[in-house]
This record gives sequence, C-alpha cells and structure tokens, in this order.
Amino acid sequence: MSRRTGGGKAAPGRRTTARRHLRAGWWCLLLFLTLGFVLETLHGFKVGFYLDVSSSTRRLMWTLAHAHGALFSVLNVLFALSLRALPEWSRESRTLASRCLLGALALVPLGFFLGGISIRGGDPGLGVLLVPPGAVLLFVAVYLTAKATRDSVP
Ligand code: HEM
Repeated sequence: MSRRTGGGKAAPGRRTTARRHLRAGWWCLLLFLTLGFVLETLHGFKVGFYLDVSSSTRRLMWTLAHAHGALFSVLNVLFALSLRALPEWSRESRTLASRCLLGALALVPLGFFLGGISIRGGDPGLGVLLVPPGAVLLFVAVYLTAKATRDSVP
C-alpha cells in the first residue's frame, strides 16, 4: 500500500523501490557491459573513428560512459539490497534518494556517451552538459543513504 507524499504523488513502498532498483541495475549493467563489448570490437577492427589521435576525446567519453554506467548499475543493485537493512528509513527521504540515484544512472553515462558523438577539436559535444546535474543527483542519493545508515537503530 502506498502513502502519499507532500506533492500529492503516491510514494512507492520499500519492496517496490527495491525491485525497481534491482531491475534498473541489472538491465543497465547488461547494457553497459554490451557497450564494453562494442568498444572492444572497435579496438579489434582498429576503427579510426574511435582510435585515431584526433578522436581521443570520443574514446575518453565513451570509455567513461561504459565505466560509469557499469559502476552506477552496481550501485543501484547495492541500493536495493541496502533497503532491507534500513527499515526505519523514512519514506520521503528514501523515495528522494531512489529518484536521485535513478536520475544519476540515466544522466551521467548518457551525458558521456552523447558528449562523444559529435566532438569539436578536443572538446566533447554539448551532451556532456548532462553529466554535472547527474553528479549532483548521485551526491544527494549517496548522502541520504549514508545519513539513513547513521539514523537507523541497530
Ligand atoms: C562491471 C564490469 C565492468 C566495469 C566496472 C568496467 C570498467 C571499466 C573501466 C573503469 C575502464 C577504463 C579503464 C581505463 O581507461 O584505465 C574500462 C575500459 C574498458 N572496458 Fe570495461 N568494465 C567492465 C566490463 C567490461 C566488459 C564485459 C567489457 C567487454 C569485453 C569491457 C570492455 C572495456 C574496454 C574495451 C575498455 C577500454 C576502452 C578504451 O580505452 O578504448 N569492460 N572498463
């Protein structure tokens, strides 16, 4: 059963949130591992679009998309598992942390990936502008989760 938050929108329960993060985490991990295989293939075929010195920014951006995507996916799985250990965590704070973590999972790897599509000289494309807001969302999610561990009664 869902309780309502101040905004009038139904906040999901702990089990629903956990399942959402497990689903997002495992499917996104598969996605970003697949991106790793794609990068490996670009190396295997020595594709200039990715490996030329003039494309080093693209290579950096796509490597960062792969690495951050994989890491953030694992973080989402960890978040789901942490929910069980934090039963006293208030619904409002938990829901905010959950939304921020999902937002970070979407924005940071996507920003790096888009930033590598159209590079201008040594600069990434404008898509990279998604990264800083994604980083802020991650910061908020990790802060709220860390705070919940402190507030929880053992
Ligand atoms: C949880 C799993 C994984 C994590 C956390 C991860 C993380 C990373 C990190 C941090 C880098 C950057 C290394 C550096 O530049 O010093 C990297 C690069 C790379 N990864 Fe992964 N990786 C994972 C799985 C995979 C898989 C399954 C593949 C596919 C075979 C793969 C292919 C690559 C390739 C090809 C690069 C080099 C890209 C380049 O420099 O052009 N990764 N990965």
